Parts: sequence; structure tokens; C-alpha cells
Amino acid sequence: ADVAVRTMAIVSACKHLEGPLLPILHGVQQEFGFVPGESLPMIAEALNISNAEVHGVATFYHDYRRAPAGRHVLKLCQAEACQSMGSERVAAMVSQALGVGFHETAKDGSVTLEPVYCLGLCACAPAAMLDGEVIGRLDADAIDDIVAEVRR
Ligand code: FES
Repeated sequence: ADVAVRTMAIVSACKHLEGPLLPILHGVQQEFGFVPGESLPMIAEALNISNAEVHGVATFYHDYRRAPAGRHVLKLCQAEACQSMGSERVAAMVSQALGVGFHETAKDGSVTLEPVYCLGLCACAPAAMLDGEVIGRLDADAIDDIVAEVRR
């Protein structure tokens, strides 16, 4: 019930906007830290669109989480400059060390791993963001530090 009330408050605040779906999803994620499954049909009904459409948008934009995030959120840049500096290898190392793939949260709830597309740190590629703090030049040592921090 609580999810419903809070979802509907956001829906009514954004409903009048042109193209209200993205602002609503954004607002819902701000409110709950993720987009609860039960919010989707409410949004669909209020906007007079299908459930499938809301679901499609929510899954297309990977910024929307469908489940609560872990205690830490680690974003690894996968955009061009970082790619040319080995970001895929970094992602493979991190993912193996932490046992999570992109868009996944570790079973112990310690960390959610997400790709991000440019952190404005291209000069220090490959780059990452851990809990909102940017980290550049991800070499093996930096990766070890990140893994240790996440496990703490
Ligand atoms: Fe990775 Fe810009 S491409 S920070």
C-alpha cells in the first residue's frame, strides 16, 4: 500500500509533463532506490499505456534498477575512451573477483555492478565510480583496492 501511495504521488506530480514516463520512472527510483515491480502497472494505468510499454522502457534504460541496490554501487565505464584502454578486461577482472556481472547484485548484498557510459574521466581511462566517487587509471592495484573496499 505504501508503495502504491508513494508511486501515485509521483505519477500525479509528473503526469502533466510531456513524455511523463521517464520523469516518473526517475522519480520512483529516487523515492525507493529502485523501481518496484508493483509500481509498473500503476504507472501504465495512469498514463493509459500498456504494462509492456512501461516494462520495456524500464528495462531498456539500464539506469533504472528493478531491485534494491547492494551496499556499494560500482559503475565501470564502458564507453569508447575507456574501452580503448582495456575497460572490458577490467570489467572481467572485477566481475570475477566479486562474483557479479553487470546489472547484478552480489548475493551477500555487498555490491551492485553497473556499466556507465563516460564519467568525464577519459584522460584517466579506464575509469570507474564507487559510491559516487570517481576513480581513474584502473590498474591491477586500483582494482584490488576497490574489491577490498567493497568487501569491507
Ligand atoms: Fe570512460 Fe570517458 S569514456 S570516462
